[in-house]
Amino acid sequence: MLRVVTFLFAFASVAFAQDYPAKPIIIVVPAAAGGPTDTLTRVLASSMGNAMKSQFVIENAGGAGGIIGINKAAKSRPDGYTLLLYHIGMSTAPALYRKLPYDTLADFDYIGQVADVPMTLVAKKATAAAAFPEFLAYIKANKDKVTYAQAGIGSASYLCGLLFMNTIGTDFTQVPYKGTGPAMNDLVGGQVDFMCDQTTNTVPQIKAGNIKVYGVATAARLPSLPDVPTLAEQGLRGFDLVVWNGLFAPRGTPKAALDKLNGALQAAVQDLAFKARLAELGAEPVPLAKATPESLRNLLKSEIDKWTPIIRKSGVYAD
Ligand code: MLT
Repeated sequence: MLRVVTFLFAFASVAFAQDYPAKPIIIVVPAAAGGPTDTLTRVLASSMGNAMKSQFVIENAGGAGGIIGINKAAKSRPDGYTLLLYHIGMSTAPALYRKLPYDTLADFDYIGQVADVPMTLVAKKATAAAAFPEFLAYIKANKDKVTYAQAGIGSASYLCGLLFMNTIGTDFTQVPYKGTGPAMNDLVGGQVDFMCDQTTNTVPQIKAGNIKVYGVATAARLPSLPDVPTLAEQGLRGFDLVVWNGLFAPRGTPKAALDKLNGALQAAVQDLAFKARLAELGAEPVPLAKATPESLRNLLKSEIDKWTPIIRKSGVYAD
């Protein structure tokens, strides 16, 4: 009897591996459409779709700093047809929420890291300050009036805001959105004053002259914005925040599916079109060695260990 069951299981796995994927694959993005994570996912989906000769569908589930979308993916059927693309926000939630509806390390299988996206400090076009020192003075002088847009507690834009506040020693009013896509619309419209956001969302607006940029939040200047000084150069010593992004699947996803998806991810990070599009957007695909399940698992673990004490010290809880 056991031999029959084993044979049937092996037969089913082989059949699954041959047929997979037999329908479009959903990638859940825990942020609103049009924002940096959505943009990155759409560029990745096109490249992985070519590699797997299959279709990917993006499902935006923004809000609560990404928790809603992460939980949706964690609870979806582990059949290879629902994935999750998210970032550093995966590693902040465990410290920010006393009661998370999922287990960050236990509820996911890993496909690999995707890309690193730098952040930029940007403001509405009408901002008078010509350069960062005046802008900093303006924030400090108007700290009860200036408004900072972010994508919810625990999001990348929230984290950058937290680091910026701690570094300049001044609080300011935060305005949460379901993602920095809609936040950018309000920044371009002048409804909010400033934001720290990923280049995949800011570079097109900076180049179009729709917003002002006062610095990049990386240790070195960016090839996409060579004339924009780093915040560190302008006195914010050690200010360095790059957003890592990873591709996940719900725990229990068939190995055959994970292997095919990882193969397509590895093809994507070497794909010239993928690289060129990310370069235009100021971002960088990870090297091949990082586009692996082990690398993403280790990164997530080390990032949780890094951000938990910082967040605990801030005393902020999201629930
Ligand atoms: C987005 O796509 O809206 C961002 O990733 C949000 C954020 O984390 O700042």
